[in-house]
Amino acid sequence: KLNGVEFAVRDLSLADFGRHQMRLAEQEMPGLMAIRREFADQQPLRGARVAGSLHMTIQTAVLIETLVALGAQVRWVSCNIFSTQDEAAAAVVVGPEGTVDAPSGTPVFAWKGETLEEYWWCTMQLFDFGDGQGPNMIVDDGGDVTLLVHKGVEFETAGAVPEAQADDHEEYRLILESLRGSFAADAKRFTRLAAGIRGVSEETTNGVARLYRLARDGRLLFPAINVNDSVTKSKFDNKYGIRHSLVDGLNRATDVMLGGKLAVVCGFGDVGKGAVESLRGQGARVVVTEIDPICALQAAMEGLQVVLLEDVIEQGDIFITTTGGTDIIMAEQMARMKHNAIVANVGHFDTEIDMAGLARVPGVVKTEVKPQVHEWLFPDGHAILVLSEGRLMNLGNATGHPSFVMSNSFTNQTMAQIELFTKPGEYETKVYTLPKHLDEKVARLHLDALGVRLTTLTKKQAEYLGVDVEGPYKADHYRY
Ligand code: NAI
Repeated sequence: KLNGVEFAVRDLSLADFGRHQMRLAEQEMPGLMAIRREFADQQPLRGARVAGSLHMTIQTAVLIETLVALGAQVRWVSCNIFSTQDEAAAAVVVGPEGTVDAPSGTPVFAWKGETLEEYWWCTMQLFDFGDGQGPNMIVDDGGDVTLLVHKGVEFETAGAVPEAQADDHEEYRLILESLRGSFAADAKRFTRLAAGIRGVSEETTNGVARLYRLARDGRLLFPAINVNDSVTKSKFDNKYGIRHSLVDGLNRATDVMLGGKLAVVCGFGDVGKGAVESLRGQGARVVVTEIDPICALQAAMEGLQVVLLEDVIEQGDIFITTTGGTDIIMAEQMARMKHNAIVANVGHFDTEIDMAGLARVPGVVKTEVKPQVHEWLFPDGHAILVLSEGRLMNLGNATGHPSFVMSNSFTNQTMAQIELFTKPGEYETKVYTLPKHLDEKVARLHLDALGVRLTTLTKKQAEYLGVDVEGPYKADHYRY
């Protein structure tokens, strides 16, 4: 704690470097800056205490300062151990008016290269806003904060935090440990805290899936807005964002020539579509795998060969997982890949590449080429390169999506926070998406910057189509 601001970041003296990048990012984030201007007087988030867990990048720094500009108190962590830009974290702590010696910004607990223990320690720092107050709002990416609160309440209701079982995932063991400490200090902490939470806005596909599961099982504790499925989020960030940041990650990690290489993209959803464009843009020969006949057919119509992973395991030069699923590339398959094949994941969790199995291959030797780039040498003398230890490589090996596309996502986030905070009681304990007129508003806020000239419907045309001149223009079932 310095000058009253709590933080745990790599190096506060990086703040100027972060601030310069934020200044440039603000220019590229017209939606977010327009929302700041629109709500500056109103201060709709005054009284909001926002616990945020979302990649601590430069773009997120601009989001954090937008929430603060609208009146919120904020505490922030990253939702991935490798995704923090240390200069962004430092700049947010120091704040626009502060100095390294006297920071006056927002508490951040995040640095690039956290251990898993440190990750869960950081996440636990979100829950104490001082004076015995917890957060009343959550911004989540992947759902780890929401999970922690729900598990906390579950165990407090049961009256005990269970012991970890031998086959529990290491992360679950760490969650249990974190909650055990909290339970020992205050056996009703999360129960009280959850009762005060007005809602969560969730950023990504995997996190949203967790929310719908909680709602389906009748276990969701507060209203949620699914930001991912705003059209201006998943059809832009997931696709065009990855189109930019996938090759960025590959280049920074390996600098290998992509043209002519055989790239295998597992999954042809929104992220997969962007990944394919990214690799094709560099002249790679791209093939995809899918389990969904609709997405497989889409891929085929795009002129892509749809294969089984097994068909190409020995020929592929680059393997990218984008499924959000589990057990996509197994150790036994990695053992059969070409020498120096690159294996990387851009799905949210590290469940797609069998890293645990890889580490157990007899005689395998892991060498760090540089942080987040590892060579795994098999006993037969051939090696593969695994990026970011199987975690999101576009954030681990590069700096994630660019500002302009994140402005779309984060304008949705900010509007979701305003909705949930200012309309308590209007949202039930369910998962919602933002109404279409707000989705269209997000898009509208990004048109001028690109010189787009939008045609206005005449009254007659609008009547013919059965829509209002001001929109919304499409029915909710329209798929874009
Ligand atoms: P999506 O549901 O649109 O796409 C996933 C696709 O993978 C689906 O078409 C599904 O049929 C397919 N799939 C599932 N299991 C498969 C298997 N075993 N083999 C082949 N294909 C399989 O989801 P979306 O939005 O594309 O997100 C994918 C993942 O990326 C999620 O984990 C999401 O959270 C994450 N994400 C990552 C971002 C990043 O910056 N790296 C940005 C946005 C999302």
